Amino acid sequence: MPPAAARLAGLGTTIFTEMTALAVRTGAINLGQGFPDTDGPAAVIEAAVSALRGGQNQYAPLPGVPALREAILEHQRAWYGLEPEDVLVTFGATEAIASAVMGLCDPGDEVIVFEPSYDSYTACVAFAGASPRFVTLRPPDFGLDPGALRAAIEAGRGRVRAMLVNTPHNPTGRVLSRDELQTIADACIEHDLVCITDEVYEHLVFNGDHVPPATLPGMAERTLTISSVGKSFSVTGWKIGWCSGPEALVAATRTVKQFLTFAGGTPLQHAAAAALRLPRTELDALRDDLRAKRDQLCEGLAAAGLKPLVPAGTYFINADVGTDSTRWCATLPERCGIVAIPTSVFYDDKDAAPTLVRFAFCKRPQVIAEAARRLASLG
Ligand SMILES: Cc1ncc(COP(=O)(O)O)c(C=O)c1O
Repeated sequence: MPPAAARLAGLGTTIFTEMTALAVRTGAINLGQGFPDTDGPAAVIEAAVSALRGGQNQYAPLPGVPALREAILEHQRAWYGLEPEDVLVTFGATEAIASAVMGLCDPGDEVIVFEPSYDSYTACVAFAGASPRFVTLRPPDFGLDPGALRAAIEAGRGRVRAMLVNTPHNPTGRVLSRDELQTIADACIEHDLVCITDEVYEHLVFNGDHVPPATLPGMAERTLTISSVGKSFSVTGWKIGWCSGPEALVAATRTVKQFLTFAGGTPLQHAAAAALRLPRTELDALRDDLRAKRDQLCEGLAAAGLKPLVPAGTYFINADVGTDSTRWCATLPERCGIVAIPTSVFYDDKDAAPTLVRFAFCKRPQVIAEAARRLASLG
C-alpha cells in the first residue's frame, strides 16, 4: 500500500469491510455494520421513483435542491425551534463532516474528539492536517467527565479549534444529557471553539430526548449541525446528508464540498425532502419498531450469558463478553455464525473497553431471534 494510504488506514479501521466480507463469505448473520435489512417507508421509496421518472436526473445546485433545503430548515424549526442561517446538502453526513473539518481547521490545529468515535472522524481530521485530542468516554456508562474535557483543552491550549460532538452516540448508544451538553457548550464558549455536531441518530432515541447542541444558549452562532436521511428513514445507501448553521460555517464547508463531489444524488435529494415532511407518527413508528428490536437483542444477549449495556439511542448495543473482545469477535463467525465488532476499534486508547463488543440490532425480528439462538449455543 502506498505510504499515504497506509497512514490513513492506520488512523481508522478497515474492520467493517473485512467483517462484512467475512459475513458474506461464511453466511454469518452480520450484526457488525449498522445498516437495516428492510427498506424505509414506502412513501419515501415512491418519492425517489417518481423523481427518477420525473426528469430529476441532472446535477443538483451545489447547495442542494431547493425542496430539500427548505425541508431541512422546516425540520430544524419544527423539531427544535432552530432557525439556521444557511443549509448545505452533502453526500451523507460523512461528507459534511469531512468538508467541515477541512474547511474550518488549518494544519497544526487540534480537534476535540470524544472516543470511542465514528471511524471517519480521525481520518477527516488528518485530511485537514490537524490532530485529534481525545476525551475518553468509559464503560459502563460512557459519561462525559468535565475534568477530562478541561484537561484536553488545556493540553492543546492555543491549538484547539473545534469540537466534534456526536449525539446520539455511535458506538455507545448514549444520548448526551443536557448537563453534559452544557459542559460542552461552556467549554466551546470559553475557548471560542467551533462545535461540529453529528446527529445522524437524532430520531432513533428510545429513552429521553435528543437535544441538539445548537439549541443551548450561545451555541447556535458557533455550531454546525450535521445529519442525514440514512438512519432516520432506513435508507443508508442513499447517502443524502446535510449541515446547517451560521452562514460562515456553512460557507466554509461548501467551499470544500464543491471540490470533493460538487453535487449529486438529485432524485434522492427530492425523496429526502419527502422523507423529512412525513408526519411525526411515521418517525415514531420507526423508532418504536427499533426499540422492540433493541429489547429483543438485549434479551438474547443476556440469555447467552453476555452483559448488554442497554442503549438509549442509535441501533447499537454493547455487551461485555468477559474476555478479549478482538479475539472473541475474530472466531465468532466460525463458532456460531455471527459477525460483531470489538468496541475497542472505536477507541484510540485500546485498553479503555477491552471486553466490549458492539452488536447492531437494526435487523428483522426473525434474524435477531436466529442470532439469539446461535449466541445461546456458545454455551
Ligand atoms: C455517528 C455516525 N455519523 C455518520 C455516519 C454516516 O452517515 P452517512 O451515511 O449519512 O454518511 C454514521 C454511520 O454509521 C455514524 O454512525
